[in-house]
Amino acid sequence: MYRLQQLLLSLLVITVIGASPGWARDTAIEEPLIIDFKERFLPVVARSGMVAGPEQLASEIGSRILQQGGNVVDAAVATGFALAVTYPRAGNLAGGGFMLIHLAEGNRQVFIDYRESAPAAASRDMFLGEDGKIDLMRMYFSLQSSGVPGTVAGMLYALETYGSMSREQVLAPAIALAEEGFPVSFALTYELANQGKRLRNNPESLRLFFKPDGNAYEIGEIWRQPDLAWTLRQISEQGVDAFYKGEIAKRIVAAMQAGDGLITLQDLADYRVIERPPLRGTFREFEVVSAPPPSSGGVHILQILNLLEGDDLAGMGHNTAAYLHLLAESMKLAYADRSEYLGDPDFAPVPVAELTDKAYAARQRKMIDPGKATPSTTIAPGSALLRESMDTTHYSIADNKGNMVSNTYTLNASFGSAIAVPGTGMLLNNEMGDFAAQPGKPNPFGLVQGESNRIEGGKRPLSSMSPTIVFRDGKPWLATGSPGGSRIITTVLQTLLNAMAFEMNIATAGISARIHHQWLPDEILAEDGISPDTVRLLEQMGHTVKLGGRTIGRTESIIWENGWLLGATDTRRPQGWVAGF
Ligand code: DON
Repeated sequence: MYRLQQLLLSLLVITVIGASPGWARDTAIEEPLIIDFKERFLPVVARSGMVAGPEQLASEIGSRILQQGGNVVDAAVATGFALAVTYPRAGNLAGGGFMLIHLAEGNRQVFIDYRESAPAAASRDMFLGEDGKIDLMRMYFSLQSSGVPGTVAGMLYALETYGSMSREQVLAPAIALAEEGFPVSFALTYELANQGKRLRNNPESLRLFFKPDGNAYEIGEIWRQPDLAWTLRQISEQGVDAFYKGEIAKRIVAAMQAGDGLITLQDLADYRVIERPPLRGTFREFEVVSAPPPSSGGVHILQILNLLEGDDLAGMGHNTAAYLHLLAESMKLAYADRSEYLGDPDFAPVPVAELTDKAYAARQRKMIDPGKATPSTTIAPGSALLRESMDTTHYSIADNKGNMVSNTYTLNASFGSAIAVPGTGMLLNNEMGDFAAQPGKPNPFGLVQGESNRIEGGKRPLSSMSPTIVFRDGKPWLATGSPGGSRIITTVLQTLLNAMAFEMNIATAGISARIHHQWLPDEILAEDGISPDTVRLLEQMGHTVKLGGRTIGRTESIIWENGWLLGATDTRRPQGWVAGF
């Protein structure tokens, strides 16, 4: 039994943010909330609705939509549009993503693929220079970096199919924020300073993200985005056609034609949201539902969970060398498969059933030596993985009826290509960088990628985004997800294992130190918090361990249990916020 249920001590409400007045008095509490004070990190607690996300204003908007009677999809769409205003490094209109929804009514899950697609004119070698090498600037920071955006189509599809409010209602808060402005936070000044050089290189981005005199906004100054407000209004008034066929589409194509961009009016008109069956697997008594291809996330989370299911992980102890060895070896096996088999399933079949089969895991498990690291080169030759990319964002939403949304969306790099479409306030994604620009050959980061992810017109680049919902005793229990490029998969995996196998509360599960291994390069990345003694033991087993580099991922998670919503934002990056009532 989960620890919260076991230790009945007293009714403790730790933090309630954005609580409606008198909520505790108004709500009949059937089950007391039990908190185990053995853990040093505690979740935020709410009763009726909750949004865990990367930025305060947007989380509060989502929570308010729930309070106003909107459902979790209304809240997810309002939060998604709000983040496009308040969190420009990853919140977006011209990016793409995946939304996983659990609907209590009908007890079913829906997966919405609104990933960007390659423009029709995209071609296999488009990012190779005359010297035959990858042209990094063209791949990541040019008009050609951008796939056909999916976010607006995805959000409006979700709203129209599963929401209950009008477009105008869910877009109004984002429009107000863009029009009236909001005080610039520490986090935003920091993010803009970090990517300032790139943004300043593009005249439109310079105009949008900096003051008229070219200086950066100071903390507390009001930042207004009238162009973005115009774009949001067009979407609010005219719907999806405003973006894909109307004036916004024309502005996107004009920007493309002013340079060497490939996206045409036809590409925009052809963009389609795809509803796909989510992936399902089990880990002991839990059912794990996650992202199918073109994400690699669900496949490899399920594959690694299968590999680890039979081991007494709790008995080994959390983050001990024995556990981390097993984890790293499992990650290697999964990521080796990823490089070979994963891509857009509409272009090349992905052997999902085989890769997530428990019998396959049992065979693979035999390849893991409990006392020794297997060199990656002996696991599989040839292909490898995507580079580490820099930004994406996730938010989780839940209500007390058992509805949940787990949404991850992205521009790919922080602030995408850093190129803004004149007159729209929008940054373009650089998702084309997620394709294998040179299948079979090392890219500039020393990595090799497979044919299944080569560039083809209309195809969606392989992703690692892994919005996930876990069920316990048939009830939706945990929603989570993360940014972090190829580290998303291992981040979500360890968060799930911490909650499912180590019975941590959701705050501890998200905050605990993580590792990452992606097969190639053959090294474990370990966050601060993994003990140097453990690192030495891992090294003795033959692992190369890189300790204390960048942090790994950033989760935004909610657990629904006994009628309580327990949320946690990951403190690895600033400004995350759990809003609930
Ligand atoms: O789809 C993907 O997997 C990447 N484009 C995500 C990029 C990302 O997570 C960067 N974030 N830190």
